[in-house]
Amino acid sequence: MDKTQGFINQNKERFLNELIELLKIPSISADPNYAESMHQMAEEVANSIRKAGADMVEVCETDGYPIVYGEKIIDPSLPTVLVYGHYDVQPADPVDLWHSPAFEPVVKKTELHPMGAIFARGACDDKGQMYMHVKAFEAMVASGELKCNVKFMIEGEEEVGSSNLATYVKENKEKLKADVILVSDTGMLANDVPSITTGLRGLSYVEVEVTGPNRDLHSGLYGGCVANPINILAKMIASLHDENNHIAIPGFYDKVIELSDEERAEMAKAPFSKADYCKSIDIEDVYGEAGYSTMERGSIRPTLDVNGIWGGYTGEGAKTVIPSKAYAKISMRLVPDQDPDEITRLFMEHFTKIAPEGVRVKVMPHHGGEPAVTPIDSFAYEAASKAYEKSFGKKPIPVRSGGSIPIVAMFEKELGLKTILMGFGLDSDAIHSPNEHFGLFNYYKGIETIPYFYHYFSEMA
Ligand code: BES
Ligand code: MN
Ligand code: MN
Repeated sequence: MDKTQGFINQNKERFLNELIELLKIPSISADPNYAESMHQMAEEVANSIRKAGADMVEVCETDGYPIVYGEKIIDPSLPTVLVYGHYDVQPADPVDLWHSPAFEPVVKKTELHPMGAIFARGACDDKGQMYMHVKAFEAMVASGELKCNVKFMIEGEEEVGSSNLATYVKENKEKLKADVILVSDTGMLANDVPSITTGLRGLSYVEVEVTGPNRDLHSGLYGGCVANPINILAKMIASLHDENNHIAIPGFYDKVIELSDEERAEMAKAPFSKADYCKSIDIEDVYGEAGYSTMERGSIRPTLDVNGIWGGYTGEGAKTVIPSKAYAKISMRLVPDQDPDEITRLFMEHFTKIAPEGVRVKVMPHHGGEPAVTPIDSFAYEAASKAYEKSFGKKPIPVRSGGSIPIVAMFEKELGLKTILMGFGLDSDAIHSPNEHFGLFNYYKGIETIPYFYHYFSEMA
């Protein structure tokens, strides 16, 4: 891989400038106002894969945003790596909290990124990480060191549930045939503590609506006499956790796989500083389920969190009113073997049951996804591990992540393929938040590490 690494070294500046151009396109999948940018982004991704050396590239239309597919088949008898990533990003809101505009990328140095980091929406999640694969591929092709077949599948609806990708995968099983799926859409522990993600949580997401009286009422005339939907909703939500912060929905934990003491001891070896953790997000102390460490709470345990809550009067000054309605959006992160549909059903039944007389409750399910775990005894994991060892000079630690990429479980079900999650982001990169960024160290390390994966994987598979 010496030629490949040499090529990367000589082209670093261009690789950065190209990413900066992609980051200027506001490809926000959740907001229909950005539809044109979404299509433009798909075309740019397709062009970049074509220019990098793919034999065939297509922009596949779906009922939603296009999926970019590209491939280079050098010899059908060689192993095939299927690269997945997403070109869509989360909305930039709240825009006021960005130090520079979300779609005007700038490179700045930070305490954790002395080499500099690119600040822009999508820098880490997932344009920057997706593009590392395009550049690694370009370098291997240019150097004549690519020893595998490569397929790219880059979608534009990851942040909104990937429903059209699911259909695409089901309808294109032959075309997507591969030996392993490779994804960079997660993180690692620290720049000097490389890790490979070995699990993702699933997701069940619901919106609830509590209705009281048929109109907003004067809170003097009616106050004390009718159920206030916001008071009731707050009570109902508060009752969803018990005093140990266990989730109080009957049956919620029935399918949760508990880790053995050995597995927990193994997990506890990963470095974690509670003080640094608290400092990084400016809190006094951590909070969570009794009996589990912070690392465990954030990866192997399921959660229930309110993501948004609204209703009544929230404008200037005081308005004395009992609202007719109250709303909340609630996410539940799931772990093996919880099933998102079943959890959504359990939530609906429970939430409807605990509603007191005097209010009506509606629960609307949103998109969800299954949890996933990846084995650490496969050829592919071994290849990834060796690749990190080569580029970081340290063996990576397997770590289960708290985030979700629902499509990973679907890949396994539909294509029978395990995924290797080679993430190069940091938790501090502020993905989905204002001032998202991606370290240049991380971007370049990703581009350097990926070719080693191909190298070891083609030797072993
Ligand atoms: N790339 C993230 C998921 C992620 C980030 C996993 C960091 C592990 C570490 C992905 O784009 C994402 O944001 N997923 C959503 C779920 C999706 C259904 C909207 C999530 O986890 O909230
Ligand atoms: Mn992502
Ligand atoms: Mn995301």
